[in-house]
Amino acid sequence: MSENHLRLGVNIDHVATVRNARGGAYPDPLRAAKLAEEAGADGITAHLREDRRHISDADIDGLMEVLSVPLNFEMAATEEMQKIALRHKPHAVCIVPEKREERTTEGGLEVAREENKLAHFIAPLRDVGCRVSIFIAADQRQIEAAHRIGAEVIELHTGAYCDAHAEGRMGDATQELESLRQMSAFARSLGLEVHAGHGLTYDTVKPVAAFPEVKELNIGHFLIGESIFLGLTPAIQEMRRLMDEART
Ligand code: PXP
Repeated sequence: MSENHLRLGVNIDHVATVRNARGGAYPDPLRAAKLAEEAGADGITAHLREDRRHISDADIDGLMEVLSVPLNFEMAATEEMQKIALRHKPHAVCIVPEKREERTTEGGLEVAREENKLAHFIAPLRDVGCRVSIFIAADQRQIEAAHRIGAEVIELHTGAYCDAHAEGRMGDATQELESLRQMSAFARSLGLEVHAGHGLTYDTVKPVAAFPEVKELNIGHFLIGESIFLGLTPAIQEMRRLMDEART
């Protein structure tokens, strides 16, 4: 695969959201994950939340068993989640902030204030071979702190850019994009691998995909939504096409 290849991680949380709406086993997030793999996903992302509102422990067991591509396991920095990650040793662990009442991961992690605690938290994960990623806002202080605690990867939160775009606040969207661009370059200059995600759609993906420092995008809600209209495979293939177009 070329150096320039931008990886697409498909987040399957919201297949589980639909399944859980009826409390049964359908639709199966594992089936979606296998289909996403066949459609060209370079990885699968799943967030095991404290309240298990979408992905379940059994889903993580299953994903670890059936996937041929790497699993990016999103989790909060809690003892319970650390134990689960240490048992499974997924390819990557992405540490995200988590609030019980939020609908989705609203902001980036506050690394600078929790540096010591987080450094101790991620060390055992790194020791067992997980690539540790920290989900943060495009903020130099947070990036420097993520670097200091020993993270290998940061994932930049694209939510503020996508929200501004969706609400037609184009000046704000341009500004957010500029911060993402500058902070991608800054993080890379420290030797961090840069990922990005949250809220990305066909309309917003290309400018982010064009940043040469970004190695991976993690996209979920829009793709699962769009699969209602297009089907999961074409929805992913179209995202892949736009990412490749932005990169050339
Ligand atoms: N990256 C991270 C760290 C996330 O927490 C999420 C949402 O679970 C995503 C990417 C994907 O966001 P979306 O579902 O809005 O595409």
